[in-house]
Amino acid sequence: MNTEELIDIEDNYFINTFTRQPIVLDHGDGVKVSDVDGKEYLDMFAGIAVNALGHNHPNIVKAIQNQAEKLIHISSIYYNEPALVYAKKLIDLTDFDRIFYANSGAEANEGAIKLAVKYTGKSEIISAVDSFHGRTIMTLAATGHEEYHEPFKPVMPQGFINVEYNNIEAIKEAITENTAAIILEPIQGEGGINVPDKDYLKEVEKLCKDNGIVLIIDEVQTGFGRCGSLFAHELFGIKPDIITMAKGIGGGVPMGAILAKEEISNAFVPGDHGTTFGGGPLVCAAAIAVLDTIYEDNLLENVNEVGSYFKGELLKLKESKDVIAEVRGEGLMIGLELTKSGAEYVDKLREAGFLINCTADKVLRFVPPLIIKKEDIDEFIKALDEIL
Ligand SMILES: Cc1ncc(COP(=O)(O)O)c(C=O)c1O
Repeated sequence: MNTEELIDIEDNYFINTFTRQPIVLDHGDGVKVSDVDGKEYLDMFAGIAVNALGHNHPNIVKAIQNQAEKLIHISSIYYNEPALVYAKKLIDLTDFDRIFYANSGAEANEGAIKLAVKYTGKSEIISAVDSFHGRTIMTLAATGHEEYHEPFKPVMPQGFINVEYNNIEAIKEAITENTAAIILEPIQGEGGINVPDKDYLKEVEKLCKDNGIVLIIDEVQTGFGRCGSLFAHELFGIKPDIITMAKGIGGGVPMGAILAKEEISNAFVPGDHGTTFGGGPLVCAAAIAVLDTIYEDNLLENVNEVGSYFKGELLKLKESKDVIAEVRGEGLMIGLELTKSGAEYVDKLREAGFLINCTADKVLRFVPPLIIKKEDIDEFIKALDEIL
Protein backbone atom coordinates (compact mmCIF):
# COMPACT_ATOMS: atom_id res chain seq x y z
CA MET A 1 0.00 0.00 0.00
CA ASN A 2 1.19 3.51 -0.68
CA THR A 3 1.24 6.41 1.80
CA GLU A 4 -2.19 7.70 0.81
CA GLU A 5 -3.87 4.30 1.07
CA LEU A 6 -2.28 3.68 4.46
CA ILE A 7 -3.28 7.06 5.87
CA ASP A 8 -6.80 6.49 4.55
CA ILE A 9 -7.11 3.54 6.94
CA GLU A 10 -6.56 5.82 9.92
CA ASP A 11 -9.12 8.31 8.64
CA ASN A 12 -11.74 5.56 8.40
CA TYR A 13 -10.93 3.33 11.34
CA PHE A 14 -9.13 5.17 14.15
CA ILE A 15 -10.76 7.09 16.98
CA ASN A 16 -9.82 10.65 16.18
CA THR A 17 -7.27 11.69 18.80
CA PHE A 18 -4.08 12.72 16.98
CA THR A 19 -3.12 15.28 14.39
CA ARG A 20 -0.40 13.36 12.60
CA GLN A 21 2.29 14.38 10.15
CA PRO A 22 1.46 12.95 6.67
CA ILE A 23 4.25 10.35 6.48
CA VAL A 24 4.29 6.62 7.29
CA LEU A 25 7.59 5.73 8.93
CA ASP A 26 8.99 2.33 8.13
CA HIS A 27 12.53 1.80 9.40
CA GLY A 28 15.35 3.61 11.10
CA ASP A 29 19.07 3.50 11.72
CA GLY A 30 20.77 5.65 14.36
CA VAL A 31 19.58 9.25 14.03
CA LYS A 32 17.98 8.59 10.65
CA VAL A 33 14.49 7.27 9.95
CA SER A 34 12.85 6.45 6.60
CA ASP A 35 9.27 6.40 5.39
CA VAL A 36 7.51 3.77 3.24
CA ASP A 37 8.42 5.76 0.10
CA GLY A 38 12.12 5.51 0.97
CA LYS A 39 12.54 9.19 1.95
CA GLU A 40 15.11 9.58 4.74
CA TYR A 41 14.80 12.05 7.64
CA LEU A 42 17.19 13.25 10.33
CA ASP A 43 15.22 12.58 13.48
CA MET A 44 15.43 15.65 15.73
CA PHE A 45 12.31 14.53 17.60
CA ALA A 46 13.16 10.94 18.67
CA GLY A 47 9.54 9.88 19.13
CA ILE A 48 8.96 12.79 21.57
CA ALA A 49 12.18 12.31 23.52
CA VAL A 50 11.83 8.52 23.64
CA ASN A 51 14.45 7.02 21.31
CA ALA A 52 17.38 7.89 23.55
CA LEU A 53 19.74 5.62 21.61
CA GLY A 54 18.25 6.45 18.21
CA HIS A 55 16.66 3.83 16.00
CA ASN A 56 17.47 0.13 15.97
CA HIS A 57 20.42 0.47 18.33
CA PRO A 58 22.14 -2.94 18.24
CA ASN A 59 22.26 -3.17 22.06
CA ILE A 60 18.50 -2.71 22.39
CA VAL A 61 17.72 -4.96 19.43
CA LYS A 62 19.96 -7.71 20.84
CA ALA A 63 18.50 -7.38 24.35
CA ILE A 64 14.93 -7.62 23.04
CA GLN A 65 15.75 -10.52 20.71
CA ASN A 66 17.49 -12.51 23.45
CA GLN A 67 14.72 -11.88 25.96
CA ALA A 68 11.91 -12.61 23.48
CA GLU A 69 13.43 -16.01 22.82
CA LYS A 70 13.32 -16.77 26.55
CA LEU A 71 10.22 -15.14 28.02
CA ILE A 72 8.02 -12.20 27.01
CA HIS A 73 5.43 -11.99 29.77
CA ILE A 74 4.69 -13.72 33.05
CA SER A 75 2.49 -11.24 35.04
CA SER A 76 3.46 -9.38 38.19
CA ILE A 77 2.62 -12.43 40.30
CA TYR A 78 6.05 -13.98 39.64
CA TYR A 79 9.58 -12.60 39.82
CA ASN A 80 11.59 -12.05 36.65
CA GLU A 81 15.33 -11.47 36.49
CA PRO A 82 15.50 -8.39 34.21
CA ALA A 83 13.07 -6.45 36.47
CA LEU A 84 15.11 -7.28 39.57
CA VAL A 85 18.48 -6.54 37.97
CA TYR A 86 17.25 -3.25 36.51
CA ALA A 87 15.74 -2.04 39.80
CA LYS A 88 19.06 -2.49 41.58
CA LYS A 89 21.06 -0.89 38.77
CA LEU A 90 18.86 2.20 38.61
CA ILE A 91 18.42 2.70 42.35
CA ASP A 92 22.17 2.32 42.93
CA LEU A 93 22.63 5.33 40.62
CA THR A 94 20.18 7.54 42.55
CA ASP A 95 19.16 8.76 46.03
CA PHE A 96 15.95 6.74 45.97
CA ASP A 97 15.16 3.48 47.72
CA ARG A 98 12.30 1.75 45.91
CA ILE A 99 10.78 1.34 42.46
CA PHE A 100 7.34 0.66 41.02
CA TYR A 101 7.16 -0.31 37.34
CA ALA A 102 4.45 1.21 35.13
CA ASN A 103 3.85 1.30 31.38
CA SER A 104 3.71 5.01 30.55
CA GLY A 105 4.31 8.47 31.94
CA ALA A 106 0.67 9.01 32.83
CA GLU A 107 0.54 5.72 34.69
CA ALA A 108 3.72 6.55 36.61
CA ASN A 109 2.29 9.94 37.63
CA GLU A 110 -1.06 8.39 38.55
CA GLY A 111 0.74 5.97 40.88
CA ALA A 112 2.96 8.70 42.35
CA ILE A 113 -0.05 10.85 43.21
CA LYS A 114 -1.84 7.87 44.78
CA LEU A 115 1.28 7.14 46.83
CA ALA A 116 1.54 10.74 48.08
CA VAL A 117 -2.15 10.80 49.01
CA LYS A 118 -1.92 7.51 50.88
CA TYR A 119 1.29 8.56 52.66
CA THR A 120 0.01 11.95 53.81
CA GLY A 121 -3.70 11.11 54.20
CA LYS A 122 -4.35 14.49 52.52
CA SER A 123 -6.29 15.37 49.40
CA GLU A 124 -4.88 18.40 47.56
CA ILE A 125 -2.28 18.37 44.80
CA ILE A 126 -0.56 21.49 43.48
CA SER A 127 0.80 21.50 39.93
CA ALA A 128 1.78 24.14 37.39
CA VAL A 129 0.02 25.95 34.60
CA ASP A 130 1.34 24.79 31.19
CA SER A 131 2.51 21.52 32.73
CA PHE A 132 1.87 18.15 31.14
CA HIS A 133 1.48 15.03 33.26
CA GLY A 134 -0.66 12.72 31.11
CA ARG A 135 -4.09 12.04 29.65
CA THR A 136 -5.73 9.83 32.26
CA ILE A 137 -8.44 11.69 34.16
CA MET A 138 -6.30 12.26 37.25
CA THR A 139 -3.10 13.22 35.42
CA LEU A 140 -5.17 15.48 33.20
CA ALA A 141 -6.38 17.27 36.33
CA ALA A 142 -2.73 17.74 37.30
CA THR A 143 -1.95 19.00 33.78
CA GLY A 144 -2.26 22.77 33.85
CA HIS A 145 -4.36 23.37 30.77
CA GLU A 146 -7.91 24.45 31.55
CA GLU A 147 -8.98 23.79 27.94
CA TYR A 148 -8.04 20.08 28.28
CA HIS A 149 -10.23 19.79 31.42
CA GLU A 150 -13.29 21.50 29.99
CA PRO A 151 -14.88 18.58 28.02
CA PHE A 152 -14.47 16.22 30.99
CA LYS A 153 -15.53 18.55 33.81
CA PRO A 154 -18.35 16.29 35.04
CA VAL A 155 -15.84 13.66 36.08
CA MET A 156 -12.70 15.70 36.76
CA PRO A 157 -11.30 14.77 40.18
CA GLN A 158 -11.35 17.38 42.94
CA GLY A 159 -8.36 18.73 44.80
CA PHE A 160 -6.06 19.76 41.93
CA ILE A 161 -4.78 23.33 41.93
CA ASN A 162 -2.78 24.61 38.93
CA VAL A 163 -0.56 27.61 39.72
CA GLU A 164 1.87 29.68 37.67
CA TYR A 165 5.16 27.86 36.99
CA ASN A 166 8.39 29.38 38.25
CA ASN A 167 6.48 31.54 40.76
CA ILE A 168 7.21 30.54 44.35
CA GLU A 169 4.64 32.99 45.74
CA ALA A 170 1.89 31.27 43.72
CA ILE A 171 2.80 27.96 45.36
CA LYS A 172 2.91 29.52 48.84
CA GLU A 173 -0.60 30.90 48.33
CA ALA A 174 -1.95 27.55 47.13
CA ILE A 175 -0.62 25.50 50.06
CA THR A 176 -3.23 24.54 52.68
CA GLU A 177 -3.18 22.12 55.61
CA ASN A 178 -4.66 19.61 53.15
CA THR A 179 -1.84 19.72 50.60
CA ALA A 180 -0.56 16.20 49.94
CA ALA A 181 1.90 16.85 47.11
CA ILE A 182 3.40 19.29 44.66
CA ILE A 183 4.10 17.80 41.22
CA LEU A 184 6.33 19.69 38.80
CA GLU A 185 8.43 19.07 35.71
CA PRO A 186 12.04 20.21 36.31
CA ILE A 187 11.85 21.77 32.83
CA GLN A 188 8.43 21.99 31.20
CA GLY A 189 8.40 20.05 27.93
CA GLU A 190 5.00 20.30 26.24
CA GLY A 191 4.57 23.74 27.82
CA GLY A 192 7.36 25.11 25.60
CA ILE A 193 10.74 24.02 27.06
CA ASN A 194 10.34 26.35 30.05
CA VAL A 195 13.43 26.33 32.25
CA PRO A 196 12.73 27.64 35.77
CA ASP A 197 14.96 30.11 37.62
CA LYS A 198 17.94 28.50 39.30
CA ASP A 199 16.47 28.68 42.83
CA TYR A 200 12.81 27.94 42.10
CA LEU A 201 12.91 24.18 42.66
CA LYS A 202 15.16 24.59 45.72
CA GLU A 203 12.59 26.93 47.23
CA VAL A 204 9.77 24.50 46.38
CA GLU A 205 11.78 21.71 48.03
CA LYS A 206 12.11 23.81 51.21
CA LEU A 207 8.38 24.63 51.25
CA CYS A 208 7.62 20.92 50.96
CA LYS A 209 9.98 20.04 53.83
CA ASP A 210 8.60 22.80 56.08
CA ASN A 211 4.98 21.81 55.43
CA GLY A 212 5.18 18.00 55.29
CA ILE A 213 4.30 17.98 51.58
CA VAL A 214 5.53 15.29 49.18
CA LEU A 215 7.61 16.68 46.29
CA ILE A 216 7.02 14.73 43.07
CA ILE A 217 9.27 15.61 40.15
CA ASP A 218 7.98 14.43 36.78
CA GLU A 219 11.06 13.31 34.82
CA VAL A 220 9.04 11.63 32.07
CA GLN A 221 10.46 13.89 29.35
CA THR A 222 13.62 15.18 31.06
CA GLY A 223 14.97 11.87 32.41
CA PHE A 224 17.59 9.40 31.21
CA GLY A 225 20.23 11.86 30.15
CA ARG A 226 18.02 14.15 28.09
CA CYS A 227 19.18 17.28 29.94
CA GLY A 228 22.80 16.22 30.49
CA SER A 229 22.47 14.43 33.84
CA LEU A 230 20.69 11.12 34.47
CA PHE A 231 17.72 13.10 35.82
CA ALA A 232 17.15 16.83 35.35
CA HIS A 233 16.31 17.58 38.99
CA GLU A 234 20.03 16.98 39.70
CA LEU A 235 20.81 20.16 37.72
CA PHE A 236 18.88 22.17 40.33
CA GLY A 237 20.50 20.51 43.36
CA ILE A 238 17.28 19.10 44.82
CA LYS A 239 16.36 15.72 46.29
CA PRO A 240 12.68 15.08 45.58
CA ASP A 241 10.65 12.50 47.53
CA ILE A 242 9.36 10.81 44.38
CA ILE A 243 10.33 10.98 40.71
CA THR A 244 8.40 9.56 37.79
CA MET A 245 9.82 8.47 34.46
CA ALA A 246 8.88 6.90 31.11
CA LYS A 247 9.80 7.88 27.52
CA GLY A 248 13.60 7.37 27.35
CA ILE A 249 13.71 4.62 29.97
CA GLY A 250 13.21 1.77 27.48
CA GLY A 251 14.58 3.47 24.37
CA GLY A 252 11.26 2.92 22.57
CA VAL A 253 9.48 0.08 24.37
CA PRO A 254 6.48 1.20 26.45
CA MET A 255 7.64 1.49 30.03
CA GLY A 256 7.41 3.83 32.99
CA ALA A 257 8.52 3.82 36.61
CA ILE A 258 8.23 5.55 39.96
CA LEU A 259 11.22 5.94 42.27
CA ALA A 260 10.49 6.88 45.89
CA LYS A 261 12.11 7.26 49.27
CA GLU A 262 11.75 4.34 51.69
CA GLU A 263 9.41 6.02 54.20
CA ILE A 264 6.99 7.17 51.51
CA SER A 265 7.11 3.85 49.62
CA ASN A 266 6.07 2.07 52.80
CA ALA A 267 2.64 3.73 52.60
CA PHE A 268 1.63 1.22 49.91
CA VAL A 269 0.68 -2.31 50.88
CA PRO A 270 -0.28 -5.13 48.51
CA GLY A 271 -3.54 -4.28 46.77
CA ASP A 272 -3.05 -0.49 46.87
CA HIS A 273 -1.62 -0.35 43.37
CA GLY A 274 -0.69 -2.65 40.50
CA THR A 275 -0.48 -3.36 36.79
CA THR A 276 -0.54 -6.41 34.51
CA PHE A 277 2.30 -5.41 32.22
CA GLY A 278 4.54 -3.20 34.40
CA GLY A 279 8.06 -4.52 34.92
CA GLY A 280 7.72 -7.26 32.33
CA PRO A 281 10.92 -9.08 31.32
CA LEU A 282 10.94 -7.79 27.73
CA VAL A 283 10.81 -4.07 28.54
CA CYS A 284 13.17 -4.41 31.48
CA ALA A 285 15.73 -6.17 29.26
CA ALA A 286 15.53 -3.20 26.89
CA ALA A 287 15.84 -0.74 29.79
CA ILE A 288 18.99 -2.48 31.03
CA ALA A 289 20.49 -2.10 27.55
CA VAL A 290 19.59 1.63 27.50
CA LEU A 291 21.04 2.36 30.94
CA ASP A 292 24.23 0.37 30.33
CA THR A 293 24.76 2.05 26.96
CA ILE A 294 24.23 5.56 28.42
CA TYR A 295 27.22 4.92 30.72
CA GLU A 296 29.38 2.65 28.55
CA ASP A 297 29.21 5.10 25.62
CA ASN A 298 29.53 8.25 27.79
CA LEU A 299 26.30 9.60 26.42
CA LEU A 300 25.85 12.16 29.21
CA GLU A 301 29.10 13.76 28.01
CA ASN A 302 27.83 13.67 24.44
CA VAL A 303 24.56 15.32 25.46
CA ASN A 304 26.40 18.13 27.23
CA GLU A 305 28.92 18.66 24.45
CA VAL A 306 26.57 18.40 21.46
CA GLY A 307 23.75 20.12 23.36
CA SER A 308 25.79 23.22 24.15
CA TYR A 309 27.17 23.29 20.58
CA PHE A 310 23.60 23.07 19.25
CA LYS A 311 22.38 25.83 21.56
CA GLY A 312 25.35 28.01 20.55
CA GLU A 313 24.55 27.52 16.85
CA LEU A 314 20.89 28.41 17.46
CA LEU A 315 21.93 31.54 19.36
CA LYS A 316 24.13 32.53 16.39
CA LEU A 317 21.15 32.00 14.09
CA LYS A 318 19.01 34.20 16.35
CA GLU A 319 21.30 37.15 15.63
CA SER A 320 20.24 37.19 11.97
CA LYS A 321 16.61 36.07 12.25
CA ASP A 322 13.96 38.38 13.63
CA VAL A 323 11.51 35.47 13.75
CA ILE A 324 13.50 33.88 16.62
CA ALA A 325 12.38 35.26 19.99
CA GLU A 326 14.37 33.01 22.34
CA VAL A 327 16.55 29.91 22.55
CA ARG A 328 16.26 27.90 25.76
CA GLY A 329 16.74 24.45 27.25
CA GLU A 330 19.32 22.12 28.75
CA GLY A 331 21.33 19.34 27.12
CA LEU A 332 19.41 17.93 24.19
CA MET A 333 16.04 19.36 25.19
CA ILE A 334 16.01 22.67 23.38
CA GLY A 335 13.23 25.04 22.41
CA LEU A 336 13.33 27.80 19.82
CA GLU A 337 10.56 30.27 20.55
CA LEU A 338 9.38 32.12 17.48
CA THR A 339 7.49 35.39 17.20
CA LYS A 340 4.74 33.54 15.28
CA SER A 341 3.13 30.12 15.06
CA GLY A 342 5.68 27.40 14.19
CA ALA A 343 3.51 24.84 12.33
CA GLU A 344 4.59 25.93 8.83
CA TYR A 345 8.27 25.44 9.73
CA VAL A 346 7.59 21.90 10.94
CA ASP A 347 6.09 21.10 7.53
CA LYS A 348 8.91 22.78 5.61
CA LEU A 349 11.59 21.03 7.63
CA ARG A 350 9.88 17.66 7.17
CA GLU A 351 9.75 18.23 3.41
CA ALA A 352 13.48 19.03 3.56
CA GLY A 353 14.14 15.77 5.46
CA PHE A 354 14.11 16.80 9.15
CA LEU A 355 11.65 15.74 11.86
CA ILE A 356 10.81 18.16 14.66
CA ASN A 357 7.59 19.33 16.30
CA CYS A 358 6.12 22.56 17.51
CA THR A 359 4.71 22.88 21.01
CA ALA A 360 2.89 25.70 22.80
CA ASP A 361 2.11 27.10 19.31
CA LYS A 362 5.35 29.06 18.85
CA VAL A 363 8.10 26.81 20.20
CA LEU A 364 10.04 24.54 17.84
CA ARG A 365 11.10 21.61 20.02
CA PHE A 366 14.33 19.71 19.43
CA VAL A 367 14.77 16.47 21.40
CA PRO A 368 17.02 14.33 19.18
CA PRO A 369 18.51 10.94 20.13
CA LEU A 370 21.29 11.28 22.72
CA ILE A 371 23.75 9.72 20.25
CA ILE A 372 23.50 12.65 17.82
CA LYS A 373 26.79 14.16 16.58
CA LYS A 374 27.91 17.71 15.80
CA GLU A 375 27.89 16.88 12.05
CA ASP A 376 24.16 16.09 12.29
CA ILE A 377 23.58 19.39 14.09
CA ASP A 378 25.46 21.24 11.32
CA GLU A 379 23.25 19.58 8.71
CA PHE A 380 20.14 20.59 10.65
CA ILE A 381 21.25 24.18 11.33
CA LYS A 382 21.95 24.69 7.62
CA ALA A 383 18.41 23.59 6.73
CA LEU A 384 16.85 25.60 9.57
CA ASP A 385 18.76 28.69 8.49
CA GLU A 386 17.42 28.38 4.93
CA ILE A 387 13.87 27.65 6.04
CA LEU A 388 13.59 30.41 8.65
C1 LIG B 1 6.45 15.56 31.50
C2 LIG B 1 5.49 14.51 31.01
N1 LIG B 1 4.79 13.80 31.91
C3 LIG B 1 3.93 12.84 31.52
C4 LIG B 1 3.71 12.58 30.20
C5 LIG B 1 2.75 11.51 29.79
O1 LIG B 1 3.45 10.40 29.36
P1 LIG B 1 2.73 9.25 28.52
O2 LIG B 1 2.33 9.85 27.20
O3 LIG B 1 3.76 8.17 28.40
O4 LIG B 1 1.55 8.81 29.31
C6 LIG B 1 4.41 13.31 29.22
C7 LIG B 1 4.18 13.06 27.78
O5 LIG B 1 4.51 13.84 26.93
C8 LIG B 1 5.31 14.30 29.64
O6 LIG B 1 6.02 15.02 28.76
